[in-house]
Amino acid sequence: MCGIVAYLGDKEAQPVLLEGLRRLEYRGYDSSGIAVLNGKGLEVTKKVGRIQQLERVLAVRPLHGSLGISHTRWATHGKATDVNAHPHTDASGKLAIVHNGIIENYGILKKKLIDKGFQFRTETDTEVLAFLIGFHFDTLDTDTENRLEMAVMEALREVTGTYGLVAIHQDQPGLMVGARRGSPLVLGIGKHEHFLASDVSAMAAHTQTVAHLRDFDVVTIDRNGYRLKSLSQNKVGLEISKIDYQSGEAEMGDFPHFMLKEIFEQPISIQNAFRGRLNLDESTAQLGGLNLTPQDLREIDRIVITGCGTALHAGLVGEYIIESMAHVPVEIEWASEFRLRNSPMDRRTLVLAVSQSGETEDTLGALREARRKGHRVLGICNNVASTLARETDGGVYMYAGPEVSVAATKSFTSQVVIFALLALLLGRMRFLSASQGRGIIEAIEALPDQITQVLRQSAHIRKIAEKYRNANSMLFFGRQMQFGIALEGALKMKEITYIHAGGHPTAELKHGIIALVDEKTPSVFLCPKDGAYDKNINNLQQVKARKGPVIAVATEGNEEIRNHADDIIYIPDAPDFAAAILSVVPLQLFAYHMAVILGRDVDKPRNLAKSVTVP
Ligand code: M6R
Repeated sequence: MCGIVAYLGDKEAQPVLLEGLRRLEYRGYDSSGIAVLNGKGLEVTKKVGRIQQLERVLAVRPLHGSLGISHTRWATHGKATDVNAHPHTDASGKLAIVHNGIIENYGILKKKLIDKGFQFRTETDTEVLAFLIGFHFDTLDTDTENRLEMAVMEALREVTGTYGLVAIHQDQPGLMVGARRGSPLVLGIGKHEHFLASDVSAMAAHTQTVAHLRDFDVVTIDRNGYRLKSLSQNKVGLEISKIDYQSGEAEMGDFPHFMLKEIFEQPISIQNAFRGRLNLDESTAQLGGLNLTPQDLREIDRIVITGCGTALHAGLVGEYIIESMAHVPVEIEWASEFRLRNSPMDRRTLVLAVSQSGETEDTLGALREARRKGHRVLGICNNVASTLARETDGGVYMYAGPEVSVAATKSFTSQVVIFALLALLLGRMRFLSASQGRGIIEAIEALPDQITQVLRQSAHIRKIAEKYRNANSMLFFGRQMQFGIALEGALKMKEITYIHAGGHPTAELKHGIIALVDEKTPSVFLCPKDGAYDKNINNLQQVKARKGPVIAVATEGNEEIRNHADDIIYIPDAPDFAAAILSVVPLQLFAYHMAVILGRDVDKPRNLAKSVTVP
């Protein structure tokens, strides 16, 4: 979603800021902008569209100076336009801010400022904040030493809502002030230079030494270093850490899109999810990061899995896996719903918050709600430096490497593998035998090679996509563990091709969905050889009887399916949980090829953000 990069150091700020913004592109945005302080004062350039459009303007009229702030905006209040883009300036035009988050009481604040005679140029909440900080700045004595810092703090005391922000002012030209509440802001400490950014990736090329600001922290940076204050009564203090982030990992290499690269990385990312976590002697899994004793694990009598989008679909597959392997009741809760509900839970309920980014606002809201009520919350997360990683009581990292494409792919398969590990661990503490445990381990270990086999069918899947390129709508069907895969396949298709797609439990077909079946609407049936196979074929035939084209994802060696389906994608024979992981890969490729054929912006689909940091 919105991204912030700010720089103060010896170098020219513009190239550093633009490079940082490019690293944040994956978060999704619809405009970008930059402000630099120099001998001439404050200069601002902003542009709707891609960063390249901003770069084109800056190539003609570069901004010089070694202190600057920049932003990628994903519109919330006010349309995506040049004027609504950040940085926003105050009434005097001397102060500029970039801001992530939402100022909830901006309407009230705006009215107060209008009553004082101010006139606004945009419909954004951020402009109101800029005006408010500017107003406080102008009411302070001109010789006040910490004038900008004080003005920021005064303004934030009046604000309800969330912010990660950075402010600069031409009357205090050598410094910038950052503040955080609810929206991440990271301080980067380099040699003779400092950064503030919403994501470490924006500064990883320059420094590996970072500190995550905590809520209510206010940091002031000048040539001599930084100083920290707090808007709360909390003791101030920064935890400085070294990040292990290879900025090169986020390069596309020989792949035309990040999404394709990430789909093809799955044999490795899955291995990273289970490496060192399988205990062959005991035929179980070991997940040290859970921070739970064997006794704690035995006492869990219910699990609530929460997340959004793809992470929730992984949770749905996880529900079936945990219930079947460990016999622990599991419930799936959309994080956006869970955070508002009073879901009955007791102290033996474990809450699992699942998120690739660890910054999804709804998932953070859900985990905070659960913790507020005294429940133990664990995270399944890819971003080790995320808010979710810091706010949970423990958890399991995916170690999938950076996922840049907006469409989540490798994070999904890693999440499902982690659910299988957790189910194995809980199951072996309950009733699973050692030989059953060994079987699960073997199936997990076989996955990387089996995924490689599925990936070899990419060209075949592209031909299927060509065949159905004119479809306006698609249906995805699966039962049991494959139901979550049907939802995920439909989500991938929708978000990157803009073709309407629905995922359904197969048997629901006859309860309404069948009305959608016609010659122009392809149905994807997930029908590996499992306990539901015969029932699935029955439903598949009902679609064929109504002239609906059928694409089947079936188990290798199943020749009989050729009598029923128009197109077949084979996956290797595997136990149900592993078949679910194998089945999603062709659906990722199907959506990818379709999007390329239709000329879509695969890695940055319209209106979407990689990390949804607003509720
Ligand atoms: O970072 P998270 O896993 O919390 O993100 C959750 C969803 O926003 C995300 O999975 C979204 O649905 C993806 N665009 C799906 O491809």
